[in-house]
Amino acid sequence: MKYIFLIQALLVSIVFATESITPTQTADFFYHKFGDKADPHRKVNHTKGFCVSGEFLPRKDIREFVKVPLLYTKSEVLARYSIGGGNPKASDKSSAHGFALKLKNGKQEWDFATLNSVINSGKTPDVIVKFLEVIGDPTKKKELQELIKKYPSVKRAMDYGDTIGVPVSLANVQFNTQHVYRVSDSDGKLMNAKIIFVPQAGIIELSEKEAKKVGDDFLEKRLEADLKKGSVNYYMYLVLANPKDPVDDISAAWENTNKKIFLGTLELKTFKGNSCNTDLFLPGMLPNGVQAPVDSVFEFRNQTYSITHQRRE
Ligand code: HEM
Repeated sequence: MKYIFLIQALLVSIVFATESITPTQTADFFYHKFGDKADPHRKVNHTKGFCVSGEFLPRKDIREFVKVPLLYTKSEVLARYSIGGGNPKASDKSSAHGFALKLKNGKQEWDFATLNSVINSGKTPDVIVKFLEVIGDPTKKKELQELIKKYPSVKRAMDYGDTIGVPVSLANVQFNTQHVYRVSDSDGKLMNAKIIFVPQAGIIELSEKEAKKVGDDFLEKRLEADLKKGSVNYYMYLVLANPKDPVDDISAAWENTNKKIFLGTLELKTFKGNSCNTDLFLPGMLPNGVQAPVDSVFEFRNQTYSITHQRRE
């Protein structure tokens, strides 16, 4: 009898050890780590942020490249820049910058929530959430080391993060979906493609000396000032997968030999302050002609973001 209990206990612990984290548990994790009862409506990740609006202007011959009617004409754009993590006072010098977008034309909508890094720390939600749990926590250094040992993607993402400096302005940052979408070509055949937003003003970082001089809160004011001088523009490109590129792993870097298709330009024009800070940017909001990425993180994000959005309503 004693042995049966022991075997049962062992089986239960194996099941728990191998069970994957759920979107609800992930939302609980963010609320536990970053939630603030005094401010229940704010986001619990990418909390610090601000909004701007503008337009997407397609290239003239876009129909020769993609069958995505939303992109055929000018569309409205709402964008939110953010810093990763749930600290509303996070330093702008932190390396994780987010860029969320809504492209709308009254009939269809395409939402994005992109990052300045091209790769993520893991292929699965388990690894990514564990990484978010331990990174930057001095009491969890050992767990971070264990995670790094088990998953090379964690070290790769950290090393990559170290190469990112402090931007001169958010107008000088490239943003990446990491996920691989399936986008219809002009004949309706699906192409595997990541999407990137390349700053027209170039990717420019501060020198170490300059970075020491700027405070922790300069990027919002800087972008507001940039917008007073003219629009802040990004070129939107599809980056097509080569035959051997993984399409189901947001922690996998592709070689730099991929064909790019220019789709059009985001022209951001108006500073909107914190007006969209509680809006939901749902990556699964896709237009006709675009199918969801097949990796295991994309749908998980949609479910998690819907839960955190509901909780802060
Ligand atoms: C398992 C993986 C991930 C988890 C658990 C996660 C979790 C979250 C959560 C809870 C939010 C707040 C959503 C809200 O309440 O509105 C958020 C926002 C955000 N996430 Fe993720 N995320 C993941 C992966 C990613 C990836 C792969 C990217 C981009 C490549 C990304 C970029 C962003 C951005 C830019 C925002 C801010 C969106 C906004 O401005 O509203 N996240 N994330």
